[in-house]
Amino acid sequence: METAAADAAARVRVRFALNGSPVDVWAAPHETLLAVLRDTLGATEVKYGCGEGVCGTCTVLLDGAPINACLLLAVQAAGRAVTTVKGLGAEGRLHPLQGAFVAHEAAQCGFCTPGMLLVAHAFLADHPRPTRDEIRSAIAGNLCRCTGYTRIVDAIEACAGSGTDARGEPA
Ligand code: FES
Ligand code: FES
Repeated sequence: METAAADAAARVRVRFALNGSPVDVWAAPHETLLAVLRDTLGATEVKYGCGEGVCGTCTVLLDGAPINACLLLAVQAAGRAVTTVKGLGAEGRLHPLQGAFVAHEAAQCGFCTPGMLLVAHAFLADHPRPTRDEIRSAIAGNLCRCTGYTRIVDAIEACAGSGTDARGEPA
């Protein structure tokens, strides 16, 4: 059997929640969640950087915990809740973290920003009053080539203690 035909025959159905809405897709067993999000579902807000778990730009939340979508097989997301940066905030209203990134000019090219925001959101949920060193450690797996990180730490620190959920509502 041709490789493409074998791949098609081996596809499995994967259902999960994406930003609160159910999705139902077919994926090859070796296909990553990143590939399914970007190529099948058009969720290009999830960025493809290194593809090997080094840069963190593909970060999404899986049941609320940050993971590298390039390292997770799509089938492993079955039955889980996946949140991308589009799951933060609400229609027409930025999440407080997004507002802080704007206010502190913490995004330049913006390529790292979706992953940074999601990591910061999960971190602040567990560490409402972090030190700057703790913030730096929390984002250590997310590389930024533009900002020098200080403005990103400033923005995250400004949101510490805000206690909001993914929509920016009081938690
Ligand atoms: S693209 Fe996933 S960690 Fe770099
Ligand atoms: S703002 Fe450009 S990589 Fe972070």
